[in-house]
Amino acid sequence: MEPAPVHLVSHPLVQHKLTLMREKDRSTNSFRRLLHEISVLMAYEVTREMPMRMVEIETPLEKMSSPVIDGRKTVFVVIMRAGSGFLDGMLEVVPGARVGHIGLYRDPKTLVAVEYYFKMPHGMHERDAIVLDPMLATGNSAVAAVERLKETQPKSIRFVCLLAAPEGIANMQRHHPDVPIYTAAIDRQLDSHGYIVPGLGDAGDRIFGTK
Ligand code: URA
Repeated sequence: MEPAPVHLVSHPLVQHKLTLMREKDRSTNSFRRLLHEISVLMAYEVTREMPMRMVEIETPLEKMSSPVIDGRKTVFVVIMRAGSGFLDGMLEVVPGARVGHIGLYRDPKTLVAVEYYFKMPHGMHERDAIVLDPMLATGNSAVAAVERLKETQPKSIRFVCLLAAPEGIANMQRHHPDVPIYTAAIDRQLDSHGYIVPGLGDAGDRIFGTK
């Protein structure tokens, strides 16, 4: 199977804010605010092909048939903990969306993803899932999260990150060629600790100020 496309969100506003986020001396407050702003902008891209249905409405002049999206059919799936930094911005654009959580941590020695939490809304088979994790590094967490999510049989799955490493994209495309990836940048490579370089460091620590 041909892998689904990687969508590079090259909008100048996204690229500008990402550059600011990469700076090592940027404060936690500013980093978090920029991530919020980028997630609003990325929400536009990832929802571009969202299904719509026609409803009958009445303008001040006449009746008409007009399109709406059914936000409740969308579920944002947060990969904890860094994925939660993406959530508020996405919900600003799709306020009716449901939210699922997947808790995974990377074993520091093997870099393999280990699950500790999983909670999705009911009726997943009629929902379009959008998985959120700012960093697609080795891809092990993303692959494990999507594998687990597929057990609930959502209608579709998209994966959104801020930064991707080529290794993570290859891993995702090998295991989940049906899942399109949306990212603001594809960086050079992973370092020996599994960090994206040049990257922006540990996204979770930078969002929550835990370092
Ligand atoms: N997770 C992060 O937060 N940063 C990286 O560079 C890789 C994984």
